[in-house]
Parts: sequence; structure tokens; C-alpha cells
Amino acid sequence: MLVTLEPKILEILHSKGISLNDQLQELCELLKAHVPYYDWVGFYFRNGSKEELKLGPYAGAPTDHIIIPFGKGICGQVAVSNANFVVQDVAEQDNYIACSITVKAEIVVPLFVNGENIGQIDIDSNTPDPFTAEDERFLEFVTAEVAKIL
Ligand code: SME
Repeated sequence: MLVTLEPKILEILHSKGISLNDQLQELCELLKAHVPYYDWVGFYFRNGSKEELKLGPYAGAPTDHIIIPFGKGICGQVAVSNANFVVQDVAEQDNYIACSITVKAEIVVPLFVNGENIGQIDIDSNTPDPFTAEDERFLEFVTAEVAKIL
């Protein structure tokens, strides 16, 4: 059950004497380690006032996609749609940026501060068709809690 991770998430986000980057890094590692079908977990944030996303802390294989223009790929589409994007089979998506050939599915949930979409959490899965409404609610919890400390 994903909700059982919530107390630990709050503990990480409210621990003192650790940088925001390290908090988000720990959060990514927690999710990747405890959810078997979360194979890459990372944050993208709007790059200043540019119409692009920049990679933040992540856990999983290094990616070439440090900068993603708004509108490009699943992440770039969420930057403009302001809505969750659940892709159960990445092979069916034309506007998709492949990070690794092992990835089968992806979920991106936007992160709002004062109603403004300023970033997102992005999760890749090597398991086909893995995500349910439980993942969406859980990741909405994560982004809302992260938003509070930004
Ligand atoms: N697949 C993403 C690119 C980012 S990687 O998954 C880390 C996309 O289509 O936007």
C-alpha cells in the first residue's frame, strides 16, 4: 500500500539541517526502493522563466534528458496541460521521449505552488500497465507536500 509510505515522506520533507535537494533526492530513493514497479523516479522543475523543464533530483539510471521543452514528451505535455498523464504503454505514444528501452509505462503528476504549475514528479516503470488511481492519489500527495516546502 502506497499510503504506508506517507509518514516517512513527511519525515523526510520536514527534517531540519538537510538541503531541499537532499530531501528530494531521499524522497526519490525511498519511492524507487519501496515500490517494485517504480524504476526511475525524478523531479523536473520549470527552468526559470523559460518555456522548458530542467531535471532535478532523481533516482535511477542517468538520463540525457536534462532539459525538456514545454510540449515535448510526456513531461513537456504535462507542463502545459496542468493535468496528470498516465501512460500504461509508452509504445502507443507519438509524443514521447525515450529514456531507456526497458521503460514500458510512465506517470507524470504536476506540482503546483499557489496554483502555478512549477514542476512535476516523473516515474518510469519497466512493468507494462502498472499504474492505478492509487498511484495518482499518492503522487498528488507527494507533489502537494513538496510544494509546501518550496
Ligand atoms: N519519458 C519522458 C522523458 C523523461 S524520462 O522519462 C526521465 C517524456 O516523454 O517526457
